[in-house]
Amino acid sequence: CVDLGELRVIKKGRILKMEHKRSQWASNIGFILAAAGSAVGLGNIWKFPGKVAAGGGGAFLICYALIVLFVGFPVMLAELSIGRSTQKNVVGAFRRLNPRWSFAGGIGVLTLFVIMSYYSVVGGWVMKYIAVYLTGADFSAFGNDSSRFSAYFADFISRPAEPLLWGAAFLLLCIYVVVRGVSEGIERVSKFLMPGLFVLLTGIVVYAVTLDGAAEGLKYMLAVDPAKFNSGTVVAALGQAFFSLSVGMGIMVTYGSYVPRTENLAKSAGCICILDSLVALLSGLAIVPVVYITAGPEAMGMGGGFAFMALPEVFSRLPGGVFFGFAFFLLLFVAALTSAISILESCIAWLTEEFGFARLKATLLLVIPMSFLSAGYSLSQGAMDIKLPWFDFTNGVQYLPMNAVMEKFTDNLMIPLGALCFCLFVGWVWGTDNASKEIEASGHSMAWKRLWAFLVKFLAPAVIIVILYFTVGRGQGLS
Ligand code: PFF
Repeated sequence: CVDLGELRVIKKGRILKMEHKRSQWASNIGFILAAAGSAVGLGNIWKFPGKVAAGGGGAFLICYALIVLFVGFPVMLAELSIGRSTQKNVVGAFRRLNPRWSFAGGIGVLTLFVIMSYYSVVGGWVMKYIAVYLTGADFSAFGNDSSRFSAYFADFISRPAEPLLWGAAFLLLCIYVVVRGVSEGIERVSKFLMPGLFVLLTGIVVYAVTLDGAAEGLKYMLAVDPAKFNSGTVVAALGQAFFSLSVGMGIMVTYGSYVPRTENLAKSAGCICILDSLVALLSGLAIVPVVYITAGPEAMGMGGGFAFMALPEVFSRLPGGVFFGFAFFLLLFVAALTSAISILESCIAWLTEEFGFARLKATLLLVIPMSFLSAGYSLSQGAMDIKLPWFDFTNGVQYLPMNAVMEKFTDNLMIPLGALCFCLFVGWVWGTDNASKEIEASGHSMAWKRLWAFLVKFLAPAVIIVILYFTVGRGQGLS
């Protein structure tokens, strides 16, 4: 007969043994690039330019920058400090610091699980477009007829089987990298892909801003029109910032847990935020002016449609457009892959550490139920009429397509809720003193720790609660 105490000791013993063998980043630059790889994703290149255009250019950019600085960065640092202090996955980390808060880790894992199931579908679309550009077949015949580009995309995503197969291919690639482990797989891939992405993007920006008439488009993107500041701009900027920085769901807890105590966490968090915002800005510069001059101001409200509808049309009008299109989708693919890997890795860390599964087994256990959700997301784009209920206090219960519900669930509800938990936990439960000690463990003191503590305890939670009021209370969307 084994009593509970003994069981705990045995379990503790096992965990300690695992901790001893726990993976670590081989170098700090590897960590920064891997974390930036998680942050830089479809959000930066696919969503951000559309949001800037739809949100009124400069007004959105200013809100976005302020939110990254005063909310995103502090929350990211809070997450990293929890991770490095506990050396655990997101659920285990909360459990170690205060078992009553394990639910907050659960919120993170659930959010990641749902995001991964639709992220892989969109990753599959990107692979399809790369294939189209490689064969060069489909778009050459479209000429300047923009409706054919939109129809092509709508037709593709509403097919029953093809998008599913592309999504499966994308997922398999992620599994391949993640099963190889932290330093061997993720770090090596990120170190090679991230600089490549930067070079490719800079090349596209140079090309785009030197086109005839680009100044008009740049003016549209950068000019600040005070009339465009409203609650919608702030809600959109906050949702975009959290999604883009990968904060609010425990990714940075997991990645922080692999960081050695010698590294300067605050500096790393700063680098990640700067890299992520820079890539977003560069994507904006590469895309918004080009769409503006070729498709006109009326295309600016299209938002998420930029990448798959407006841009292929734009590319088809440009000299060397096939190459431009291929390069763009390759870039989107690189960004999507490194982000998807981080999502999968965080879920796998949870299963391997909390339940003792081998990496491969954990991956399979995760991917099988995930495939069903992915299939639902993909099929509800038009192939099948799958509806789920969604609730907000203004509109009550509505039955919406499954894909919309999945995005609303993560963007409007779970990510802000997760971020709120991180702030409240670090600010009021674990304590900013403990967190700052962890951040300063490398010997680099944080001169602005009082300001950081204020942001984590008061400002960030207040902003998030206001946003939840708009999304859950007023039914405004983040996506
Ligand atoms: N930050 C990624 C992007 O901008 O596309 C998306 C993402 C990655 C979201 C990791 C959530 C996450 F946990």
